[in-house]
Amino acid sequence: MSMVKFIPFLHIHPELKTEMVREFERFYDDQKYISGQGLEKFETEYSKFNQINYAIGVGNGHDALLLAMKCLNIGPGDEVIIPALTFIATALAVINAGATPVLADINDNSFCIDPKDIEPKINNKTRAIIPVHLYGNPCDMDSIKSITQKHKLHIIEDNAQAQGSEYKGQKTGSIGVINTTSFYPTKNIGAFGDGGLITTNSKELAEKARTLRNYGKSPDGHYSLKGINSRLDELQARLLSIKLKYLDGWNKERIEIANKYTSELANIGDLQLQNVRADCKNVRHIFPILTKKRNRLRNFLFSKGIETLIHYEKPIHFHGAFLSLGFEKENFPAAEKVCKSELSLPVYPGLKEEDIFHICHQIKNFYLKD
Ligand SMILES: Cc1ncc(COP(=O)(O)O)c(C=O)c1O
Repeated sequence: MSMVKFIPFLHIHPELKTEMVREFERFYDDQKYISGQGLEKFETEYSKFNQINYAIGVGNGHDALLLAMKCLNIGPGDEVIIPALTFIATALAVINAGATPVLADINDNSFCIDPKDIEPKINNKTRAIIPVHLYGNPCDMDSIKSITQKHKLHIIEDNAQAQGSEYKGQKTGSIGVINTTSFYPTKNIGAFGDGGLITTNSKELAEKARTLRNYGKSPDGHYSLKGINSRLDELQARLLSIKLKYLDGWNKERIEIANKYTSELANIGDLQLQNVRADCKNVRHIFPILTKKRNRLRNFLFSKGIETLIHYEKPIHFHGAFLSLGFEKENFPAAEKVCKSELSLPVYPGLKEEDIFHICHQIKNFYLKD
């Protein structure tokens, strides 16, 4: 059996290559290499996909978060609550906005921010909560909304890992006042380079985001705000438009793969799977399993030709980059447990049935021998 790679890009893209090359030729001939028709078209298409009024393409997922906070005038002296388990970009964006990230632990079953740990972290400096729909799993948005309504805080959804997920029938990335996503190549819809996007239902915030991403240049041509250069690249937008047509189908495949893993791996050894609420849709950006034997299982699977990854080696409070914030004195047991025991199994559109069963068979084999 050949190696089962974690993400084989060419495996996902062969049917798109002809369309992509044709689009590149159009892009070349149009000679509008920045902020052309392709960007505007993709923004309209993505806003429809995400069931929200406005989509604003930006340079990457980090900048989407940074600009979302700038749109809400969040900066020095403000605090923003984020989960202790997320990609480092969520925390860095808060710091780069000039604000302070405050951590809340995750829920032991969903692996998403635990609403019970949010309220104790709120004080008069708190301005927003950034729920991260981790691995594609929607956060408990009803509980988060009731906290933000009570304390008059903003919700900024970090939807980088959940393009197409739904919370009680509503698309994630359309619930907060302003939300973000990333088109890093490994995402459910990934670019051929960097890319990101902001979503909002507010015309005013959308206009501000468009201004801020383009050096602060407002529609009247004047530089009215201190912005940055973070536009979604025209070529990336055109290629993303092609991929967007396939996204629902790809997400469906990811869910089917996850369902097979879930039924094959239930009650095997000490494995713990991510809990998805019955009223939610998780588009399975990552399929995590937790086990105390993570490193041994990972080596065993590799010896059988199966590539796995770890998301993430460290929770936010363990990163050296944040030493000055004093997180090392804090304790987030659920986030720490996931980092010690998580293993990500291959999940991508085009993963063959025989590969899924080979992976499950080898995991069962590991536990029989262990
Ligand atoms: C949860 C989360 N937030 C933010 C980002 C940052 O996105 P980017 O790498 O496009 O800056 C990523 C992914 O990379 C992510 O997974």
